Amino acid sequence: MSHIRGRFNKAADDKVAAYTASLAFDRRLYRHDIAGSIAHTHMLARQGIISEREAEVITAGLASIREEIEHGTFEFKPAQEDIHMAIEARLLEKVGEVGGKLHTARSRNDQVALDLRLFTREAIDDAVIRIRRFQEALLDVAESNKDAVLPGYTHLQPAQPVLLAHHLLAYFEMLQRDVDRFDDCLRRTDVLPLGSGALAGVAYNIDRDFVAKELGFRQVSRNSLDAVADRDFVLDYESAAAVCMMHLSRLAEEIILWSSVEFGYIELDDAYATGSSIMPQKKNPDVAELARGKAGRVYGRLIALLTTMKGLPLAYNRDLQEDKEGLFDAVDTLSATLEVMTGMVSTMKIKVENMRRAVARGYLLATDLADYLVRKGASFRSAHEAVAKLVSYAADKGKSLEEISLGEYQKFSALFGKDVSGITVASSLAARNVAGGTAPARVAQALKTARQLLAECR
Ligand code: ARG
Repeated sequence: MSHIRGRFNKAADDKVAAYTASLAFDRRLYRHDIAGSIAHTHMLARQGIISEREAEVITAGLASIREEIEHGTFEFKPAQEDIHMAIEARLLEKVGEVGGKLHTARSRNDQVALDLRLFTREAIDDAVIRIRRFQEALLDVAESNKDAVLPGYTHLQPAQPVLLAHHLLAYFEMLQRDVDRFDDCLRRTDVLPLGSGALAGVAYNIDRDFVAKELGFRQVSRNSLDAVADRDFVLDYESAAAVCMMHLSRLAEEIILWSSVEFGYIELDDAYATGSSIMPQKKNPDVAELARGKAGRVYGRLIALLTTMKGLPLAYNRDLQEDKEGLFDAVDTLSATLEVMTGMVSTMKIKVENMRRAVARGYLLATDLADYLVRKGASFRSAHEAVAKLVSYAADKGKSLEEISLGEYQKFSALFGKDVSGITVASSLAARNVAGGTAPARVAQALKTARQLLAECR
């Protein structure tokens, strides 16, 4: 606060200064702040609001401050309220009086909105890149295990056989929509707020389009009050991140189940599992558990900002400073989660044989048997009932469906013939030859399509 005490006769109380300060966390915006200030300075000179010479001094000063920060020689003084003030104060120290011209035709309100939009734009790009890498990892696993079959579940009860690749492609689709949500979020974030001043616009002949171009913004905000007061682009990011974390959390949950002794479908690489301090036999899926746990944390960030904003009158209110830590944390959490999950998925061992055994164990061909009876003329309901009785008979005997003789089959329906032996896991998969189904031919096509989608976005 030091250099703009203006109408105040005394410095803020220490506790007040500490309570209101954001420097400890918004220093993360230094790069964005300096980039915004440099673009603003260029514009001021172009418009004749300051001289070319003054602009050179200011931009050189800003560039050297950026270097100081990057080399760790910049002194972050607790007396400075936020990164904007800290940089401006340092500029005055370095270049003297002329540094005071930087803030012409600008307010911290449009400045901070700008910085945060620049930051969010980058965060969106980063999220998309990481999601793409994760999708690629899923495709790699799917392609190297093209024939692996596992039970598909509903209600977590074994339901019908599906290809592992089909299962993994389901996540590919979810992530594809996540990318879509981030793209959408980018469209709305990519708007220049600078030029809105404190709230009403500025009384100088500025060129907002020029600044937008310098900073690569596609649009200029249309309303100054809105531009300094809203943070819906942060909410957009956080909600896209929350949905993506939800998807990651579901996969994490499956990985946790699959790596259990009871399922045994996968084994996590040692680098992605932890041991127990007391039980020597344990190999715990902590990474997946934390990914699942951290989804709640990202939801919390979204709800926190929604709540912070709901009662704010136009335009800027200091409450908005609460936007940053939540956003930073959501960005860091999503990015780290994508990173570790990519590694975990790429290194896990797929236990194809265990998956196959689980398929055989679960009477997963029951639907196919019912369909068989329907093709022989039974109504679906009576076929369903006959097969239900057959399955419970087999279960009582501790037999699989392959171990049941034709004679036994025929006790439940006279329509069963010798060709019932043609009903196998392979025939079950192949029969689901509809768009979006798990038939191997469809899945092979889906894998190709998925690869193409990834290649196109490069
Ligand atoms: N640190 C503030 C924030 O994060 C910057 C804007 C302050 N503007 C103001 N008029 N106090 O929102």
